[in-house]
Amino acid sequence: MPAKPPGCPVGPGGRVPSARIADDDLAAEAADFITLYHREELPHQDPAPRIAAVREEIAATGTYRHTTAELTHGARVAWRNSNRCIGRLYWRSLKVRDHRHLDDAESIAREAAIHLRQASNGGRIRPLITVFAPDTPHRPGPRIWNEQLIRYAGYRTPSGSVLGDPRNLGLTELALDLGWAGGPGTPFDVLPLIIADGDGKPRLFELPPESVLEVAIEPPDGPDYRDLALRWHAVPAIANMCLEIGGVSYAAAPFNGWYMGTEIGARNLADVDRYDLLPRIAERLGLNTADDRSLWRDRALVELNRAVLHSFDRAGVTVADHHTESRRFLAHIDRERAHGREVTADWAWIVPPISGAATPVFHRTYDATEHRPAYVHHPDAEARARGEWAG
Ligand code: ARG
Repeated sequence: MPAKPPGCPVGPGGRVPSARIADDDLAAEAADFITLYHREELPHQDPAPRIAAVREEIAATGTYRHTTAELTHGARVAWRNSNRCIGRLYWRSLKVRDHRHLDDAESIAREAAIHLRQASNGGRIRPLITVFAPDTPHRPGPRIWNEQLIRYAGYRTPSGSVLGDPRNLGLTELALDLGWAGGPGTPFDVLPLIIADGDGKPRLFELPPESVLEVAIEPPDGPDYRDLALRWHAVPAIANMCLEIGGVSYAAAPFNGWYMGTEIGARNLADVDRYDLLPRIAERLGLNTADDRSLWRDRALVELNRAVLHSFDRAGVTVADHHTESRRFLAHIDRERAHGREVTADWAWIVPPISGAATPVFHRTYDATEHRPAYVHHPDAEARARGEWAG
């Protein structure tokens, strides 16, 4: 009996990283998924023959292969099951690129760049996932170490401050250790992709600039931000979460939707441990930053978020605002209920980081049960995204 590769550990079911999934567990998870797939997609077809075939394949090979239709539905349902995501109304529109035949780092880097171009779509962002080779009993699949396909470098300066995104300090250091020459030295230098084949050795791949659509951030009115030269990338493409379908782990499966403005304006550019821009925006607005009760942070937040929405709109790049997206989420709950499904959600992640109670998603509670298929965080992947590597 071949040994099993590590499953995705912290998803529903809570496996530990080193745990090898037993044939029986795999067969049970497979049967659950095949049953769900048939119920939702092939309601007039008996799932039993497919389940029997999968069991045989598992007994013979230690794993099984999803059909492209199963993979597609699995990836969509994993989105539907993402309790932290407010944007799930469109889960059925996720386009799935089936690239399971690719397991080498070069091909993955090349296809990741193509993914970004297709997802960017000239500004009309398309929800997209590219699925690369899964783990097999004989060999782990490839891994993308970057947290997202597009991340900005964070450089430690001699004075001890950080140039760029402090979140990516570790990954930046690792890239430099692996031989990256560094970017031009702006606060928004795009990091190279760091990808490992099944052998686990990370290698660097520069993203072609034409794959990285970005938006310059400028306010619609009032004092300009020209000297700050703010920008953000158009496509949030999560690259290090593991897609878990019916017991099979697709650890290299980058996926994206479109941004909600607050992710950029109220978190990435505003958090004290990220770009920490509120003091500088407040200064431009002439606010008294010595007095908390002037609400300078709050006023700066609103202006920065107006600037993000205005800039994406002006550039013709899809971006959601938190009021619209909140209403859509409630529509999603209604629509799912009409299909006999209860939406699960994590309140702390669903409620937007500004004006929470001014949106309807605030005024209710949610069942936070986790279902599969799912996109799960792998602790090893998080360590890699922090640049931790004992190689
Ligand atoms: N919050 C993350 C970021 O700011 C992206 C997470 C996914 N967001 C999305 N809209 N699909 O980069």
